[in-house]
Amino acid sequence: MRQPNFLLLLLTTAVLLLSSAVSDIASDRAALISFRSAVGGRVLFWDLSNPIPCSWAGVSCSADNSSVVELHFPGMGLSGQIPSNTISNITNLQTLSLRYNSLSGPIPPDLFPSLTSLRNLYLQHNSFTGQIPDTLFSLTSLVRVNLAENNLSGSISPNFNNFTRLGTLYLQSNQFSGSIPDLNLPTLDQFDISNNNLTGEIPKGLSGKPRSSFSGNTLCGEPLNSCDGNGKPRKNKLSGGAIAGIIIGSVLGFCLILLLLLCLCRVILVKKDKKEVEIPSGGRNDETSFAVAKTEKEKNGGNVLNVKNGLVFFGNTGWNFDLEELLRASAEVLGKGTFGTVYKAVMEIGLSVAVKRLRDISMGEKEFRAKMDEIGKFDHENIVPLRAYYYNRDEKLLVFDYLPIGSLSALLHGNKGAGRTPLNWETRAAIALGAARGISYLHSQSSTTSHGSIKSSNILLTKSYEPRVSDFGLAQLGGISSAPNIVIGGYRAPEVTNPSKVSQKADVYSFGVLLLELLTGKAPTHALMNEEGVDLPRWVQSVVREEWTAEVFDLELLRYQNVEEDMVQLLQIAIDCTAQYPDKRPSMGKVVSLIEGICKKDLSGDIEEESIGVDSSTLPN
Ligand SMILES: *[C@@H]1O[C@H](CO)[C@@H](O)[C@H](O)[C@H]1NC(C)=O
Ligand SMILES: *[C@@H]1O[C@H](CO)[C@@H](O)[C@H](O)[C@H]1NC(C)=O
Ligand SMILES: *[C@@H]1O[C@H](CO)[C@@H](O)[C@H](O)[C@H]1NC(C)=O
Ligand SMILES: *[C@@H]1O[C@H](CO)[C@@H](O)[C@H](O)[C@H]1NC(C)=O
Ligand SMILES: *[C@@H]1O[C@H](CO)[C@@H](O)[C@H](O)[C@H]1NC(C)=O
Repeated sequence: MRQPNFLLLLLTTAVLLLSSAVSDIASDRAALISFRSAVGGRVLFWDLSNPIPCSWAGVSCSADNSSVVELHFPGMGLSGQIPSNTISNITNLQTLSLRYNSLSGPIPPDLFPSLTSLRNLYLQHNSFTGQIPDTLFSLTSLVRVNLAENNLSGSISPNFNNFTRLGTLYLQSNQFSGSIPDLNLPTLDQFDISNNNLTGEIPKGLSGKPRSSFSGNTLCGEPLNSCDGNGKPRKNKLSGGAIAGIIIGSVLGFCLILLLLLCLCRVILVKKDKKEVEIPSGGRNDETSFAVAKTEKEKNGGNVLNVKNGLVFFGNTGWNFDLEELLRASAEVLGKGTFGTVYKAVMEIGLSVAVKRLRDISMGEKEFRAKMDEIGKFDHENIVPLRAYYYNRDEKLLVFDYLPIGSLSALLHGNKGAGRTPLNWETRAAIALGAARGISYLHSQSSTTSHGSIKSSNILLTKSYEPRVSDFGLAQLGGISSAPNIVIGGYRAPEVTNPSKVSQKADVYSFGVLLLELLTGKAPTHALMNEEGVDLPRWVQSVVREEWTAEVFDLELLRYQNVEEDMVQLLQIAIDCTAQYPDKRPSMGKVVSLIEGICKKDLSGDIEEESIGVDSSTLPN
């Protein structure tokens, strides 16, 4: 017998390996293209001239690019059914994320059998219907399974016990029915089956999970109430007398609760009004200042930077994500600003952050990083701190806290419809004071530190309408010199010629325009176009000169009584800030103390009004 040629053997093996690798990625690519064309949704801008799909958005490959291993298409508006022979052909897939889309129909049974390496399956927040296909349960490597917020039905299969490494099982907000099988999954730490149509007793293996994981079903047993023997939540059998007693007791109890509620409402109403006026003058509580002081110390200690895969973090956010996770987050455009587009990014772990994608930055890398380090050190309760940044030649990203209420601009000028809550005087005064404090803090950092782009769209609001100044220092990155006119529209001080060189006194001017905007309800950019080229400060001054002061105020403000004097005082501050000559404008520190004066007066005035029936001699003046 002839020995096979060793070289030949080697060669054929190599060719076989090579061809299998090539055919793998080529068939993965074909599957992707065919999936993409079969479902509706956002354009993905895949470079179809590239034979290797590994650089396509949402696609990740193995280290040697021989096969596709992860697909992340979150929040891309994908609709229709998952077509067969597409994703199911990508046989080395480890992660499949199609969360937050509008995919519908049943989850196809042929999706799973060949995906034997699948570890993470994220299909939450779609419109899938029908049962979980049995084929899923052959994928024994699954670690994370999230099918929440769909329209799936049928019972929960005991075959989930097949997943011996399962860490996450989210099935909440579907239509699952029947009883829960006894699941014994020692590694399961994230579990939720709430808001389904499940009945019966919770099995022992799940009794250690939190109550909230089971709510919105008809279940009993640990950790919920005990069962009555028929697998129903226990109801006590009672005699007629006891029932009568309970009814009488309940009625009495109900009256008592009603009474308590009434009292409580009154207390809350009084408290709420007090709180609104306390914001401006009140300081932070000790806990917050302690936290801030601690962060400050850590920063001074020099151990600030925490780099995760190119993402440079500042301070102690506790955030634990890297660039890759950020890039694959589902993104929603919040707005297109002067310096680039801002996105709300929701990561797989559920965290929301705001990401600003800078454009046209002319600054070099070293200067850019130095500038970011400077901005990243700023920390004050009235600013939006820079949490992290990313720099490379083609892409510059800044990461901030996400504030759901949005900007003052949107609140003042956004929705004039019926559903809108008008901003009352106290809130506007508190916003003016908080914004002034934030800007004053920036100015206190050094005599040359300025914000550079103060306008109402850069004042963001927390849920309790506390203002936070954003976008500071970005004007100095030099990216906006190409488009100076859109920079700060009607907010720009007359002496400013270069938008990347804005002095503190020019900031004061812009802040004055912002105060006028709060008082008049008019957008300065709009006024510029409407009133024959007259800007907001000049329009206000002309009206005031004619002694028609009341005419300038926002109609929404005129419904509040006894605040006109304060409004006129704030108007005077705004007029001083928008003085033609920089030397005539007050410093930001001075502006803060002037507005504090107005807000303090408000505080004492309101308490007197609120406390009808209380001995007024005990109140502060
Ligand atoms: C998926 O695989 C099947 C069977 O191997 C094949 O018939 C089909 O053409 C493949 N689909 C794509 C889109 O390549
Ligand atoms: C894999 O593909 C990516 C994107 O196309 C590319 O940047 C990388 O260099 C490739 N790696 C290998 C080992 O070919
Ligand atoms: C789920 O199905 C019900 C009826 O079966 C339908 O009314 C509902 O709109 C569906 N929900 C979603 C999110 O598709
Ligand atoms: C997993 O579940 C399936 C049911 O679909 C069952 O046939 C199989 O034997 C179970 N075990 C394994 C290891 O796949
Ligand atoms: C919930 O389950 C009960 C009985 O198991 C059934 O009668 C009912 O129609 C189900 N409701 C929904 C919304 O599926």
